[in-house]
Order: sequence, then structure tokens, then C-alpha cells
Amino acid sequence: MAKIARFSVMSLKGGVGKSTLAYYLAKELSKRYNVLLVDRDYTNTIGKIYGLETGLLNVLGDGVEGKFYDNIGKLRVLSLVSFSPSSLPSLGDFARAYSNFLEGVDVMITDNPPGFDEIMAMEFKGYYEVMGEVHCSSVVVTTPGVSLSLTLSHLNDIVKTLVSWVPQISFARLLALVVNMVKGNLNIEIPGINVIQIPFYKELLFRSFVDSSIRPDLDSMIRLMEERIKQIRSGGGILVQSHNLQIQ
Ligand SMILES: Nc1ncnc2c1ncn2[C@@H]1O[C@H](COP(=O)(O)OP(=O)(O)OP(=O)(O)O)[C@@H](O)[C@H]1O
Ligand SMILES: [Mg+2]
Repeated sequence: MAKIARFSVMSLKGGVGKSTLAYYLAKELSKRYNVLLVDRDYTNTIGKIYGLETGLLNVLGDGVEGKFYDNIGKLRVLSLVSFSPSSLPSLGDFARAYSNFLEGVDVMITDNPPGFDEIMAMEFKGYYEVMGEVHCSSVVVTTPGVSLSLTLSHLNDIVKTLVSWVPQISFARLLALVVNMVKGNLNIEIPGINVIQIPFYKELLFRSFVDSSIRPDLDSMIRLMEERIKQIRSGGGILVQSHNLQIQ
């Protein structure tokens, strides 16, 4: 299978706007690429939008029945887990089922719960089983204030922890630090790190982001993602080194 450009939307703190971003980024990129949006958030924010009732891991692990994926044009939405399954499937069973959803995909975006868990590790490992390589371009989301300070002090740990959990990862790189819900202008520049600021939109908070007429300005984020997609699809350099941990 051709190389897929993977993006992980993650955060240390909850409620910072990961699902909102993952939803809009996937929608925008699916105008030009075959996109797989993987919801592995226990709150099921994205799954609910697409009427998904359960997750692939619930189906495999617990034998639950129900809709767990949808195809909307070039966008494929897959719920990985909608509530914690009492047992996880074997890695082999998961990889076999997962491979059906990876076929023909150019770009993949995962929406994650805050922090790390064994399901995040399982997704990376299952993907590796299918594709023979796995990498991570992370989009770390925070809000200003305490969450931003906390995120900055642990930025290196996020990628390091991920790679210690999933040693198969060949390349893990922070693509951007997104500071969401910024009121006014935040004066923040971090050498070597792409910092993307997204304003606070009152309407977005008070209505569900799907019902809101506001579309957050994600142009610079999309530009960064498209550069990375090009690099990965052309096989250019960055994936050849193994365990190349870089916080840039
Ligand atoms: N830029 C913004 N301005 C105002 N409200 C926002 C903005 N971005 C997201 N929101 C709102 O913040 C709330 C939380 O967003 P979201 O569910 O995307 O966060 P999350 O990080 O995915 O949360 P969780 O950690 O629970 O998965 C939602 O009501 C969403 O509409
Ligand atoms: Mg969420």
C-alpha cells in the first residue's frame, strides 16, 4: 500500500478543541485527498456527528453490533472505540480488520483523548502490522494560560513517551503546537516550533461546532499539513531514519 501521511491530534488537557480541529482539518483535506478520520476519543464527539453507534474495538473485543464507520465522498470516518471494551482483540485480529479501512487512504487524522493509553499504542502497532512502517506527525493542542505552560514543559515528553510505548515508530515529529481559543493576541514565539493561534469564537463554544456558522481559520495549519503530506508521499528523506526523534 502507498504511504499514508499520518497526523495525530493530541493534548495533555481535555476540552481544548482537539475534536473540533480534527473534524475541520479532515473535512478540508478531504476536498483534495482520500482522508481517514479516526475517532478514538471516548467522548465519541466525531463518531456522534456521523451517527456512529460503536467502535471497531468494541465490535472486535466485545462482539457489539452497530454502525462504526461512514464514507462521505473522499472522507472516511472510523470510530475505533466508543466506550472502554471489556477485552481488547489480539493485535493480529485488529490489524486484519484495520487494513480494510487503510486501503486507498492518502491522509489519516486521529482524534485522541487527552494523554496516552493502551488503545493509542494498539492503533500505532496495528497500523505498523498492516503498513510495515508507522510514523507520527503530532498536532498538539492547548488553550492559553496554565494549559499552555503545562504543555510547553512537557512537549518533549509527549513524543518521547509515545515512542517508548511504540518502538516501531520510525519517525515522530511535532508538526505544530496549536494554541486554541486565544482572546486577543498572544505574544508567543518558540524557536523551531510552528505555533498556530486560533481565536476564541464565542459562537463555537455555545453551539455545537457542527451547528455553528463559524469556521475556525485553519489556513496556516492546512498549509503545514500539505507540506508534510508532500514530503511523505514523495518519500523524501524524513522517513528513512529510524527512531529519529525530533522536536523541531
Ligand atoms: N476556537 C474556539 N473558540 C471557542 N470555542 C471552541 C473553539 N474550539 C473549540 N471550541 C469549543 O470547545 C468545546 C470543546 O471542544 P472539543 O470537543 O473539540 O475539545 P476536545 O479537546 O476534543 O475535548 P476532549 O478532551 O473532551 O476530547 C466545544 O464546545 C467546541 O465547540
Ligand atoms: Mg474530543
